Amino acid sequence: MVYKYMTGFGNHFESESIKGALPVGQNTPKKAPHGLYTEQLSGTAFTVPRAGNARSWLYRIRPSVIHKPFVKYHEKQEEEDMKMHVTPAQLRWAPFEPKVDEKEKGKSGRVDFVDGMRKLCESGHPELREGLAIYIYNFNQGMSEGKRSFFSSDGDFLIVPQEGGLLIQTEFGNMEVRPLEIAVIQCGMKFTVNKIDGESNLEYFRGYILEVYSGHFSLPDLGPIGANGLANPRDFLVPVARYEKIDTGVEYQIINKMQGQYFKATQAHSPYDVVAWHGNYVPYKYDLTKFCVVNSVSYDHLDPSIFTVLTCKSTRPGTAVADFVIFPPRFAVQQNTFRPPYFHRNVMTEFIGLISGHYEAKKEGFMPGGASLHSMAIPHGPDTATVKRESCRVDEPERVAEGTMSFMFESMFQMKVADWALNKDGKVDENYYKAWEDMPVTFTESE
Ligand SMILES: [Fe+2]
Repeated sequence: MVYKYMTGFGNHFESESIKGALPVGQNTPKKAPHGLYTEQLSGTAFTVPRAGNARSWLYRIRPSVIHKPFVKYHEKQEEEDMKMHVTPAQLRWAPFEPKVDEKEKGKSGRVDFVDGMRKLCESGHPELREGLAIYIYNFNQGMSEGKRSFFSSDGDFLIVPQEGGLLIQTEFGNMEVRPLEIAVIQCGMKFTVNKIDGESNLEYFRGYILEVYSGHFSLPDLGPIGANGLANPRDFLVPVARYEKIDTGVEYQIINKMQGQYFKATQAHSPYDVVAWHGNYVPYKYDLTKFCVVNSVSYDHLDPSIFTVLTCKSTRPGTAVADFVIFPPRFAVQQNTFRPPYFHRNVMTEFIGLISGHYEAKKEGFMPGGASLHSMAIPHGPDTATVKRESCRVDEPERVAEGTMSFMFESMFQMKVADWALNKDGKVDENYYKAWEDMPVTFTESE
């Protein structure tokens, strides 16, 4: 199905699926058109300065507050309570697979997006609204089959599908999000993740999620680059209002994540009954292939911050809770320059994932659906084979990362790693250190 979208980043949008459903000239009339209930969804404190203030007004068949009491979602909680570890190791993972859990398989062998989502790394705590988490998801069942809806009270979700296109139903409307696209679902917004009908016979759908506990994503400032380039605002797409009218016989399960814990509640109506809405606090998607790459055209590397798609700024100027950075296909033309990423020790934490293709700084071992983590001040860089190949390459313009899309979640915070991800079942590569082991000494005292 082809869904319609509105374009722009940070705009004040308005959308109605029935003509006249949006109140004219005010937000909260005594009686909203068509007998709808009025509900505000705040994305920032009321008093945040206007430039950063975010909220939307939703006009819906029933207010969200009608539901049975929340109870602990014990089935999901078990794994979340697992220990997180501190490690300085350079970590690399083979493509992540669904969790090995015979109990689960014995039950049904079916897992949806929420149950298939596993926390891999975390820093900080949502209780104080500071930090971030990284999740991997593997699922084989749409959430609609179980009439399930999820929302996080902890932060904004940036979803990076790697295998399988997603149909994401939200209170604001529907979005189709395929690999090489991303979606952002902000704190408090309910959503349901399904497969796109008839599009894939994959055994499992897989992807990455970045959740930021403080602030929201914005476009990076461009400084001397000027008014254009990197991710252009007009390429961000926002869904249009679309509602589900279910009167009787339905039981929706609403799943909430709060302070890293999972809760569930039932309700006898659809959470997707918003007939019209307006505001600037919205879910959106972006096609990564539309990113306008900027780089050096003379010599040397510019820093990877030039590849930033979205940033969630921290309160310390110039630093980020998390940057979302991509390395798309592009020309490399720098002369007398070692073109792949250089050896590096960073004051930021770098988590890298691969959506498709082959990452230029590693000959082998880093595969689509896998990941790597290089923590604060921990050395990393190109492997031996890449160094040997690239240090004697003839200077000429070349295409790099052709057919490839890798990305980085880069954070000013230090992260801990989940217990499950530090053993073989978690796909960790215990031989990663060997990538640099055979680096030759080429030093000579006389040139
Ligand atoms: Fe780095």
